Amino acid sequence: MVVKRHLLEAADLDRDDATLVLDTAAQIESALAGREVKKLPTLRGRTVVNLFYEDSTRTRISFELAAKRLSADVINFSAKGSSVSKGESLKDTALTLEAMGSDAIVVRHGASGAPHRLAQWVQGSVVNAGDGTHEHPTQALLDAYTIRQRLGRLDGVRVVIVGDVLHSRVARSNVWLLATLGAEVTLVAPPTLLPVGVGSWPVTVGYDLDAVLPKADVVMMLRVQAERMNASFFPSAREYSRRYGLDARRMGTLPDEAIVMHPGPMNRGMEIAAEVADSARSTIVDQVGNGVSVRMAVLYLLLGGAPGSE
Ligand code: NCD
Repeated sequence: MVVKRHLLEAADLDRDDATLVLDTAAQIESALAGREVKKLPTLRGRTVVNLFYEDSTRTRISFELAAKRLSADVINFSAKGSSVSKGESLKDTALTLEAMGSDAIVVRHGASGAPHRLAQWVQGSVVNAGDGTHEHPTQALLDAYTIRQRLGRLDGVRVVIVGDVLHSRVARSNVWLLATLGAEVTLVAPPTLLPVGVGSWPVTVGYDLDAVLPKADVVMMLRVQAERMNASFFPSAREYSRRYGLDARRMGTLPDEAIVMHPGPMNRGMEIAAEVADSARSTIVDQVGNGVSVRMAVLYLLLGGAPGSE
Protein backbone atom coordinates (compact mmCIF):
# COMPACT_ATOMS: atom_id res chain seq x y z
CA MET A 1 0.00 0.00 0.00
CA VAL A 2 2.79 2.42 0.88
CA VAL A 3 4.16 1.88 -2.59
CA LYS A 4 0.76 1.80 -4.28
CA ARG A 5 -0.58 4.97 -5.77
CA HIS A 6 -4.34 4.43 -5.63
CA LEU A 7 -7.04 2.91 -3.45
CA LEU A 8 -9.58 1.62 -5.94
CA GLU A 9 -11.06 -1.45 -4.32
CA ALA A 10 -10.92 -3.46 -1.10
CA ALA A 11 -10.20 -6.52 -3.22
CA ASP A 12 -6.75 -4.98 -4.00
CA LEU A 13 -5.72 -4.94 -0.35
CA ASP A 14 -3.87 -7.90 1.12
CA ARG A 15 -3.85 -8.59 4.84
CA ASP A 16 -0.69 -6.57 5.46
CA ASP A 17 -2.00 -3.55 3.51
CA ALA A 18 -5.31 -3.55 5.33
CA THR A 19 -3.71 -4.05 8.74
CA LEU A 20 -1.30 -1.19 8.02
CA VAL A 21 -4.22 1.15 7.30
CA LEU A 22 -6.02 0.13 10.50
CA ASP A 23 -2.87 0.41 12.62
CA THR A 24 -2.00 3.79 11.09
CA ALA A 25 -5.53 5.04 11.82
CA ALA A 26 -5.15 3.91 15.44
CA GLN A 27 -1.75 5.66 15.68
CA ILE A 28 -3.21 8.86 14.24
CA GLU A 29 -6.12 8.70 16.64
CA SER A 30 -3.90 8.34 19.67
CA ALA A 31 -1.47 10.99 18.39
CA LEU A 32 -4.34 13.48 18.15
CA ALA A 33 -6.20 12.40 21.28
CA GLY A 34 -4.41 14.61 23.76
CA ARG A 35 -4.05 17.61 21.46
CA GLU A 36 -5.96 20.83 21.55
CA VAL A 37 -5.36 21.44 17.84
CA LYS A 38 -6.42 18.24 16.06
CA LYS A 39 -4.10 18.65 13.10
CA LEU A 40 -0.95 17.03 11.72
CA PRO A 41 1.37 18.84 9.29
CA THR A 42 1.96 15.79 7.07
CA LEU A 43 0.26 16.92 3.85
CA ARG A 44 1.07 20.62 4.03
CA GLY A 45 1.30 22.01 0.50
CA ARG A 46 -0.56 19.07 -1.07
CA THR A 47 -3.96 19.42 -2.69
CA VAL A 48 -6.79 16.92 -2.36
CA VAL A 49 -9.87 17.23 -4.59
CA ASN A 50 -13.18 15.70 -3.59
CA LEU A 51 -14.88 14.96 -6.90
CA PHE A 52 -18.46 13.92 -6.13
CA TYR A 53 -20.88 13.01 -8.90
CA GLU A 54 -23.34 11.42 -6.46
CA ASP A 55 -24.92 12.81 -3.33
CA SER A 56 -23.12 12.20 -0.09
CA THR A 57 -23.19 13.51 3.47
CA ARG A 58 -20.86 11.39 5.58
CA THR A 59 -18.26 10.32 3.06
CA ARG A 60 -17.66 13.76 1.54
CA ILE A 61 -17.45 15.57 4.86
CA SER A 62 -15.28 12.80 6.30
CA PHE A 63 -12.74 13.00 3.44
CA GLU A 64 -12.73 16.79 3.68
CA LEU A 65 -12.05 16.69 7.39
CA ALA A 66 -9.42 13.96 6.98
CA ALA A 67 -7.49 15.99 4.39
CA LYS A 68 -7.78 19.19 6.43
CA ARG A 69 -6.55 17.45 9.59
CA LEU A 70 -3.47 16.45 7.62
CA SER A 71 -3.03 20.13 6.62
CA ALA A 72 -3.73 19.55 2.90
CA ASP A 73 -5.53 22.12 0.79
CA VAL A 74 -8.97 20.76 -0.06
CA ILE A 75 -11.19 21.49 -3.01
CA ASN A 76 -14.75 20.22 -2.93
CA PHE A 77 -16.19 19.70 -6.34
CA SER A 78 -19.74 18.55 -6.77
CA ALA A 79 -21.02 17.78 -10.22
CA LYS A 80 -24.11 19.89 -9.61
CA GLY A 81 -23.36 23.50 -10.47
CA SER A 82 -20.16 22.67 -12.41
CA SER A 83 -19.42 22.35 -16.12
CA VAL A 84 -20.43 18.69 -15.80
CA SER A 85 -23.97 19.98 -16.32
CA LYS A 86 -22.69 21.38 -19.67
CA GLY A 87 -21.61 17.86 -20.63
CA GLU A 88 -17.92 17.98 -19.67
CA SER A 89 -16.58 14.45 -19.44
CA LEU A 90 -15.01 12.81 -16.40
CA LYS A 91 -11.69 12.78 -18.25
CA ASP A 92 -11.69 16.49 -19.08
CA THR A 93 -12.84 17.37 -15.59
CA ALA A 94 -10.04 15.31 -14.05
CA LEU A 95 -7.36 16.71 -16.37
CA THR A 96 -8.55 20.21 -15.55
CA LEU A 97 -8.28 19.55 -11.83
CA GLU A 98 -4.84 18.08 -12.27
CA ALA A 99 -3.67 21.03 -14.34
CA MET A 100 -4.55 23.15 -11.33
CA GLY A 101 -2.21 21.05 -9.19
CA SER A 102 -4.27 18.39 -7.44
CA ASP A 103 -2.20 15.59 -5.89
CA ALA A 104 -5.09 13.28 -5.11
CA ILE A 105 -8.63 12.91 -6.38
CA VAL A 106 -11.25 11.34 -4.12
CA VAL A 107 -14.03 10.31 -6.46
CA ARG A 108 -17.63 9.18 -6.04
CA HIS A 109 -19.41 8.28 -9.25
CA GLY A 110 -22.61 6.52 -10.27
CA ALA A 111 -20.78 4.33 -12.78
CA SER A 112 -19.01 1.22 -11.49
CA GLY A 113 -15.37 1.39 -12.60
CA ALA A 114 -15.18 5.19 -12.97
CA PRO A 115 -12.29 5.53 -10.46
CA HIS A 116 -10.32 2.89 -12.39
CA ARG A 117 -10.68 4.89 -15.61
CA LEU A 118 -9.69 8.04 -13.78
CA ALA A 119 -6.56 6.35 -12.45
CA GLN A 120 -5.46 5.73 -16.06
CA TRP A 121 -5.75 9.40 -16.97
CA VAL A 122 -4.16 11.26 -14.07
CA GLN A 123 -0.67 11.34 -12.56
CA GLY A 124 -1.80 11.71 -8.95
CA SER A 125 -3.52 9.31 -6.57
CA VAL A 126 -7.13 8.25 -6.96
CA VAL A 127 -9.25 7.14 -4.01
CA ASN A 128 -12.57 5.43 -4.68
CA ALA A 129 -15.27 6.98 -2.46
CA GLY A 130 -17.99 4.75 -3.95
CA ASP A 131 -18.50 3.74 -7.59
CA GLY A 132 -21.98 2.66 -8.60
CA THR A 133 -22.83 -0.70 -7.10
CA HIS A 134 -19.19 -1.82 -7.21
CA GLU A 135 -16.99 -0.83 -4.24
CA HIS A 136 -16.52 1.62 -1.39
CA PRO A 137 -13.18 0.57 0.11
CA THR A 138 -12.78 3.23 2.80
CA GLN A 139 -16.21 2.31 4.19
CA ALA A 140 -15.07 -1.29 4.58
CA LEU A 141 -11.84 -0.13 6.22
CA LEU A 142 -13.70 2.03 8.74
CA ASP A 143 -16.11 -0.83 9.41
CA ALA A 144 -13.21 -3.22 10.04
CA TYR A 145 -11.60 -0.62 12.28
CA THR A 146 -14.83 -0.27 14.27
CA ILE A 147 -15.21 -4.05 14.67
CA ARG A 148 -11.62 -4.38 15.85
CA GLN A 149 -12.07 -1.47 18.26
CA ARG A 150 -15.23 -2.94 19.81
CA LEU A 151 -14.44 -6.66 19.75
CA GLY A 152 -10.64 -6.57 19.87
CA ARG A 153 -10.15 -8.79 16.81
CA LEU A 154 -11.27 -9.54 13.26
CA ASP A 155 -9.97 -13.05 12.84
CA GLY A 156 -12.82 -15.54 13.25
CA VAL A 157 -15.42 -12.83 13.91
CA ARG A 158 -18.83 -13.83 12.57
CA VAL A 159 -20.34 -10.99 10.55
CA VAL A 160 -23.88 -11.09 9.16
CA ILE A 161 -24.59 -8.58 6.39
CA VAL A 162 -28.32 -8.07 5.88
CA GLY A 163 -30.46 -6.60 3.13
CA ASP A 164 -29.94 -4.96 -0.23
CA VAL A 165 -26.67 -6.66 -1.17
CA LEU A 166 -27.47 -6.35 -4.86
CA HIS A 167 -27.09 -2.56 -4.93
CA SER A 168 -24.57 -2.24 -2.12
CA ARG A 169 -20.97 -1.26 -2.78
CA VAL A 170 -20.58 -1.26 1.01
CA ALA A 171 -21.46 -4.96 1.12
CA ARG A 172 -19.07 -5.83 -1.72
CA SER A 173 -16.13 -4.01 -0.17
CA ASN A 174 -16.87 -5.49 3.23
CA VAL A 175 -17.10 -9.03 1.88
CA TRP A 176 -13.63 -8.80 0.32
CA LEU A 177 -11.95 -6.96 3.15
CA LEU A 178 -13.46 -9.06 5.93
CA ALA A 179 -12.53 -12.28 4.15
CA THR A 180 -8.96 -10.98 3.75
CA LEU A 181 -8.85 -10.20 7.47
CA GLY A 182 -10.11 -13.65 8.49
CA ALA A 183 -13.72 -12.89 9.44
CA GLU A 184 -16.56 -15.26 8.51
CA VAL A 185 -19.25 -13.49 6.51
CA THR A 186 -22.87 -14.56 6.10
CA LEU A 187 -25.19 -12.66 3.76
CA VAL A 188 -28.91 -12.62 4.51
CA ALA A 189 -31.18 -11.10 1.88
CA PRO A 190 -34.26 -11.72 -0.17
CA PRO A 191 -33.20 -13.79 -3.21
CA THR A 192 -34.15 -10.84 -5.46
CA LEU A 193 -31.60 -8.61 -3.70
CA LEU A 194 -28.62 -10.96 -4.09
CA PRO A 195 -26.34 -10.46 -7.10
CA VAL A 196 -25.84 -13.09 -9.76
CA GLY A 197 -22.50 -14.72 -9.04
CA VAL A 198 -22.72 -14.46 -5.25
CA GLY A 199 -21.95 -18.19 -5.23
CA SER A 200 -18.32 -17.40 -6.02
CA TRP A 201 -17.93 -14.90 -3.16
CA PRO A 202 -16.16 -15.96 0.06
CA VAL A 203 -19.44 -15.98 2.05
CA THR A 204 -22.28 -18.17 3.27
CA VAL A 205 -25.72 -17.16 2.01
CA GLY A 206 -28.87 -17.47 4.12
CA TYR A 207 -32.47 -16.32 3.90
CA ASP A 208 -33.54 -16.62 7.53
CA LEU A 209 -32.33 -13.78 9.73
CA ASP A 210 -33.69 -15.32 12.94
CA ALA A 211 -31.63 -18.45 12.34
CA VAL A 212 -28.27 -16.64 12.17
CA LEU A 213 -28.59 -13.89 14.79
CA PRO A 214 -27.92 -16.05 17.90
CA LYS A 215 -24.45 -16.90 16.51
CA ALA A 216 -23.47 -13.48 15.17
CA ASP A 217 -20.75 -11.22 16.59
CA VAL A 218 -21.64 -8.38 14.22
CA VAL A 219 -24.85 -7.57 12.33
CA MET A 220 -24.39 -5.07 9.52
CA MET A 221 -27.67 -3.68 8.20
CA LEU A 222 -27.74 -2.25 4.68
CA ARG A 223 -29.93 0.55 3.40
CA VAL A 224 -32.65 -0.45 0.96
CA GLN A 225 -31.43 1.58 -2.05
CA ALA A 226 -34.75 2.58 -3.56
CA GLU A 227 -33.04 5.07 -5.93
CA ARG A 228 -31.21 2.21 -7.68
CA MET A 229 -34.33 0.07 -8.08
CA ASN A 230 -36.39 0.30 -11.22
CA ALA A 231 -38.52 -2.73 -10.47
CA SER A 232 -40.26 -4.17 -7.46
CA PHE A 233 -37.74 -6.29 -5.57
CA PHE A 234 -40.02 -7.15 -2.64
CA PRO A 235 -43.78 -7.08 -2.03
CA SER A 236 -43.95 -4.10 0.38
CA ALA A 237 -41.88 -2.13 2.87
CA ARG A 238 -43.84 -3.74 5.69
CA GLU A 239 -43.11 -7.23 4.43
CA TYR A 240 -39.42 -6.37 3.98
CA SER A 241 -39.17 -5.08 7.57
CA ARG A 242 -40.95 -8.11 8.93
CA ARG A 243 -38.51 -10.54 7.33
CA TYR A 244 -35.26 -8.61 7.06
CA GLY A 245 -35.56 -5.64 9.42
CA LEU A 246 -33.72 -5.50 12.75
CA ASP A 247 -36.13 -4.62 15.54
CA ALA A 248 -35.69 -4.79 19.32
CA ARG A 249 -37.06 -8.32 19.57
CA ARG A 250 -34.58 -9.63 17.01
CA MET A 251 -31.73 -7.68 18.55
CA GLY A 252 -32.55 -9.43 21.84
CA THR A 253 -31.58 -12.78 20.30
CA LEU A 254 -27.98 -11.67 19.68
CA PRO A 255 -25.14 -12.82 21.96
CA ASP A 256 -24.36 -10.31 24.76
CA GLU A 257 -21.26 -8.77 23.17
CA ALA A 258 -22.62 -8.53 19.61
CA ILE A 259 -22.71 -5.17 17.87
CA VAL A 260 -25.07 -3.62 15.30
CA MET A 261 -23.66 -1.60 12.38
CA HIS A 262 -25.11 0.50 9.56
CA PRO A 263 -23.11 2.58 7.06
CA GLY A 264 -25.79 5.30 6.87
CA PRO A 265 -27.92 6.87 5.62
CA MET A 266 -30.55 4.82 7.47
CA ASN A 267 -34.16 4.24 6.65
CA ARG A 268 -35.29 4.16 10.27
CA GLY A 269 -38.25 1.84 10.63
CA MET A 270 -37.43 -0.02 7.43
CA GLU A 271 -34.20 -2.02 7.69
CA ILE A 272 -33.49 -0.90 11.27
CA ALA A 273 -35.81 0.16 14.10
CA ALA A 274 -35.05 3.50 15.74
CA GLU A 275 -34.57 1.89 19.16
CA VAL A 276 -31.97 -0.48 17.68
CA ALA A 277 -30.12 2.32 15.88
CA ASP A 278 -29.96 4.29 19.13
CA SER A 279 -29.12 1.34 21.40
CA ALA A 280 -25.84 0.68 23.24
CA ARG A 281 -25.03 -2.11 20.78
CA SER A 282 -25.16 0.27 17.84
CA THR A 283 -21.79 1.46 16.50
CA ILE A 284 -23.34 3.79 13.92
CA VAL A 285 -21.98 6.99 15.46
CA ASP A 286 -18.56 5.38 16.12
CA GLN A 287 -18.39 4.35 12.47
CA VAL A 288 -18.74 7.97 11.40
CA GLY A 289 -16.05 9.15 13.81
CA ASN A 290 -13.69 6.33 12.86
CA GLY A 291 -14.19 7.20 9.20
CA VAL A 292 -12.16 10.37 9.64
CA SER A 293 -9.18 8.56 11.23
CA VAL A 294 -9.25 5.80 8.63
CA ARG A 295 -9.40 8.26 5.72
CA MET A 296 -6.55 10.23 7.27
CA ALA A 297 -4.57 6.99 7.33
CA VAL A 298 -5.36 6.27 3.67
CA LEU A 299 -4.39 9.77 2.50
CA TYR A 300 -1.28 9.68 4.68
CA LEU A 301 -0.15 6.31 3.31
CA LEU A 302 -0.88 7.22 -0.32
CA LEU A 303 0.53 10.75 -0.27
CA GLY A 304 2.71 11.13 2.78
CA GLY A 305 4.95 8.07 2.89
CA ALA A 306 5.24 5.53 5.68
CA PRO A 307 4.78 6.65 9.30
CA GLY A 308 7.96 8.17 10.65
CA SER A 309 9.62 8.54 7.23
CA GLU A 310 9.49 12.34 7.17
C1 NCD B 1 -23.32 4.28 1.45
C2 NCD B 1 -22.94 4.61 0.04
O1 NCD B 1 -23.16 5.71 -0.43
O2 NCD B 1 -22.40 3.71 -0.58
N1 NCD B 1 -23.22 5.26 2.38
C3 NCD B 1 -22.00 5.67 2.85
O3 NCD B 1 -21.09 5.94 2.11
N2 NCD B 1 -21.85 5.74 4.18
C4 NCD B 1 -24.43 3.37 1.58
C5 NCD B 1 -25.77 3.80 1.09
O4 NCD B 1 -25.91 4.74 0.33
O5 NCD B 1 -26.72 3.11 1.47
